[in-house]
Amino acid sequence: MLDTGLADRTVLITGSAQGLGAALVRAFHAEGAYVAALDVDEEGNRALAAGLDPDGDRILPVRADLRDPAAIESAHQLVDAWRPVDVLVNNAARPLTTSLWEITPEQWDEVFAVNLRAAFLLTRSVAAGMRDRGFGRIVNMASVAGQTPRPTGAAYGSSKAGLIALTRVFAAELAPYGVTVNAVSPAMIDTPMVRSVGAEALAELTAQVPLGRIATPEEVARVAVFLASRTSFVTGATYDVNGGALMR
Ligand SMILES: NC(=O)c1ccc[n+]([C@@H]2O[C@H](COP(=O)([O-])OP(=O)(O)OC[C@H]3O[C@@H](n4cnc5c(N)ncnc54)[C@H](O)[C@@H]3O)[C@@H](O)[C@H]2O)c1
Repeated sequence: MLDTGLADRTVLITGSAQGLGAALVRAFHAEGAYVAALDVDEEGNRALAAGLDPDGDRILPVRADLRDPAAIESAHQLVDAWRPVDVLVNNAARPLTTSLWEITPEQWDEVFAVNLRAAFLLTRSVAAGMRDRGFGRIVNMASVAGQTPRPTGAAYGSSKAGLIALTRVFAAELAPYGVTVNAVSPAMIDTPMVRSVGAEALAELTAQVPLGRIATPEEVARVAVFLASRTSFVTGATYDVNGGALMR
């Protein structure tokens, strides 16, 4: 069994209330980590935390809207007062499927605020403590949509491509301090985000995956756990978790 070294580490996960984020909370909790679970969906987040950690010792649900820079800073201060963060997983995202002709500047900005700006702001806030303590692991949840073009995915795909670039730049900037920064790039995961496309579109998309199915959230969460573990010589990498949908 892989010794992840995550027992008693503190992990901050965004977009934790459902889908992959909830699987990430479960996976890091199972490793014995303390988990700060951040989401705008307060009810979903609290229900998840209460189910896994009835005593409320190991999971801290935090409500914050990642579109708001001040809320990001306050959320981090709240978590830091609980326990300093060793591992940050920037997982929250705002999906958007809109054609070039229909997307509005407001929609574009909202997607970028959640998917890219929030990752930048939260990383900067959290990384200062990691730098001072000489240890940190940052995992950014990208997407195959940021690696290969999809019609109607301009804002989402560009934000994810930006997140991959951000991962490399921050990996270079934080390397001298023992802080690694990596990205996970999934294709299709069985989450509410994917189910929302409808059964027919889902079947079409699944047919393009060489492994012939979509991923379970647990399969993707496992790779994030791996990257947050004793992988001390891995940084600036993007790990494809796509069933062979993109081989490069
Ligand atoms: N589902 C997939 O097939 C798939 C594929 C590739 C990449 N991804 C990526 O994996 C990650 C998780 O995806 P998912 O399918 O679990 O998504 P999801 O839509 O099911 O969950 C996203 C979570 O983020 C939260 N969130 C959204 N906006 C927020 C905001 N402004 N402030 C705080 N929280 C906010 C939501 O409340 C929700 O709990 C995302 O980064 C997504 O881009 C997903």
